[in-house]
Amino acid sequence: MAKKVNDSSRPLGIFDSGIGGLTVASAIHKIMPNEQLIYFGDTAHLPYGDKSPESIKKWAIAISDFLMTYNCKIIVIACNSISSVAFELIKSHIGNRAIIVNVIDPIVDYVCKQTNSKSIGVIGTKATIKTDIYATKLKAQNKKLNISSLATPLLAPMIEEGFFNNKISKTIINDYLSRPKLKGIDSLILGCTHYPLIKPEIELYYKNKVTLFDTAGIVANHTKEILNLNGLLNNGKKTKHHFFVSDYTAAFAESTKLFFKGKVKLEHKNLWK
Ligand code: DGL
Repeated sequence: MAKKVNDSSRPLGIFDSGIGGLTVASAIHKIMPNEQLIYFGDTAHLPYGDKSPESIKKWAIAISDFLMTYNCKIIVIACNSISSVAFELIKSHIGNRAIIVNVIDPIVDYVCKQTNSKSIGVIGTKATIKTDIYATKLKAQNKKLNISSLATPLLAPMIEEGFFNNKISKTIINDYLSRPKLKGIDSLILGCTHYPLIKPEIELYYKNKVTLFDTAGIVANHTKEILNLNGLLNNGKKTKHHFFVSDYTAAFAESTKLFFKGKVKLEHKNLWK
């Protein structure tokens, strides 16, 4: 029998196309070590950023259904591309069975309420930037903000392949960041959950003259706040996490070890057999 909705010992579901969501998972784990995580990386379909909204929606629903087989109390859509095109759909599909959190609203709220940013750059996948979701949501809170969004489609596949902190990543990052569109910004939103992995390189490019936000940390804090407000924080004992991938990749295995100190066993789950 399904456990009651208000059972705080239920796990926390997280998903992304690949390793990007691990930046959010690890930030969540850091501030809520008692929570059991069920992670799904859809490595068989990545990069999501180049795919159609229809495909992204179809995969996101299948993954949400899979996470609900673990009776998750909350699902964190740890991917901007999915959050941009499928958040409302996932929310209405899951209904009151679980709380759904996206990675865009917490960042927009943070930037508007806790910073003095005025001229904001946004980088993300083609899927995210095409929706113009950051500019729309930021401007809905503050009309005076100046927003410049740039699609940076090579970054997620590059990071997924383990290319960061090297010559190749430096060349690609510098090429994108030097585009006229991002000229004169005072802050930059890393609108893809893969990008915290190249944050040090972006900081180096801007020589700390442009503010970067701790997007994973902001989403983790927001998730904690929501669980707390709903009386769903798990104060009980820790349970084993599960990390699923739709296609086993060595890069994913390496990154999971990096984030969770080798304590993780990857499980292969093909939802589309
Ligand atoms: N990490 C994802 C995002 O935040 C998707 C990257 C991709 O698969 O293209 O948009």
